[in-house]
Amino acid sequence: MKYLVTGGAGNIACQLSHRLPTDAEVVLADIADHPFSQYSSNARYCHLDVTDEVAVHEFVAEFQPDIILHFASLLSGQSESDRPAAWRVNMQGAFHVFEASVKHKVDRVVFLSSIASFGSPLPDPVPEQCEQWPRGFYGFTKAAIERMGFYYKETLGLDFRSIRLPIVISAYPSPGAASSYASNVFISAVRDGSYTLQVRETSNPALVYIEDCLKAIDLLTHAKRENMSHASYNLFSCAPSASEIVTEIMKQLPDVQLRFETDNKIADLIDSWPKRIEDQAAREDWGWSPDFMLEDMTKKFVTALQEMNVKESNGGEEK
Ligand SMILES: NC(=O)c1ccc[n+]([C@@H]2O[C@H](COP(=O)([O-])OP(=O)(O)OC[C@H]3O[C@@H](n4cnc5c(N)ncnc54)[C@H](O)[C@@H]3O)[C@@H](O)[C@H]2O)c1
Repeated sequence: MKYLVTGGAGNIACQLSHRLPTDAEVVLADIADHPFSQYSSNARYCHLDVTDEVAVHEFVAEFQPDIILHFASLLSGQSESDRPAAWRVNMQGAFHVFEASVKHKVDRVVFLSSIASFGSPLPDPVPEQCEQWPRGFYGFTKAAIERMGFYYKETLGLDFRSIRLPIVISAYPSPGAASSYASNVFISAVRDGSYTLQVRETSNPALVYIEDCLKAIDLLTHAKRENMSHASYNLFSCAPSASEIVTEIMKQLPDVQLRFETDNKIADLIDSWPKRIEDQAAREDWGWSPDFMLEDMTKKFVTALQEMNVKESNGGEEK
């Protein structure tokens, strides 16, 4: 099997590479000079700009992937501050990937959508079938790409599948994401002993721990085509408030200084994202269930970050 991962330098791509079959040929492709964290030994890193139509077609024609994991994207903060760039990377990038996939007979395209694709006000919980009227430009591109993927699936037979990921808690959050506070509060608490959150104490968007996120992508990617009743799936793990996160971190690290200095623009965007989400289809179609709720996630993540810090101070290669 051959996997092409666009946005291959990124947070999720590098970490996912360790979960792909060890006998697979994996290419991580991105515009960044180098990947942002360690990737698996059966993967190689290449330059590919998804906004470059010719380059995408040539790359796909030459490598002939079975599966494209299309992760390249500008995230929420960057998309809001540079809409033309978000249009090129998110919208045109997806279009080039879909067109190249059809032309060069790629079996499957897996796309990472986001809970930012919903908009507000929203029912709580968000039902399985919910209208998507996103408030942010990033969310708009995600909703639009879901529709584009649906077209390629229904009309042109491409095996397109996507999940609407909640905010991912990870050691390598993208600096371009308004949601990165949810990871940075853990990272800074361990590394610096302090952090200032710009959301509200009550802000409680849906979150998922990186290990559950990777598990979900793995399950979705490798599910049987005949089991897929949807093109795009909801995914839910937990939705603790920012103050509950702070409390849980302080159980592990009682001396840290965590405080709130709300930035209304960021807080309003985050508060427009879903809290609880119904995800029965993912559970039924490809066996999704999360392993980490807030307490387990905090214990595991704090320990992992402490180990990374020790490695770093011993001259290890972790970021
Ligand atoms: N991390 C989250 O909380 C989260 C939540 C929901 C959805 N997602 C989606 O998951 C995917 C991966 O997110 P991530 O957290 O790894 O983000 P990330 O920012 O770490 O990775 C995105 C990658 O895309 C690359 N990229 C940007 N422009 C490109 C271009 N023109 N050509 C090729 N690559 C380009 C970036 O260099 C970056 O490495 C994205 O599509 C994101 O929207 C992430």
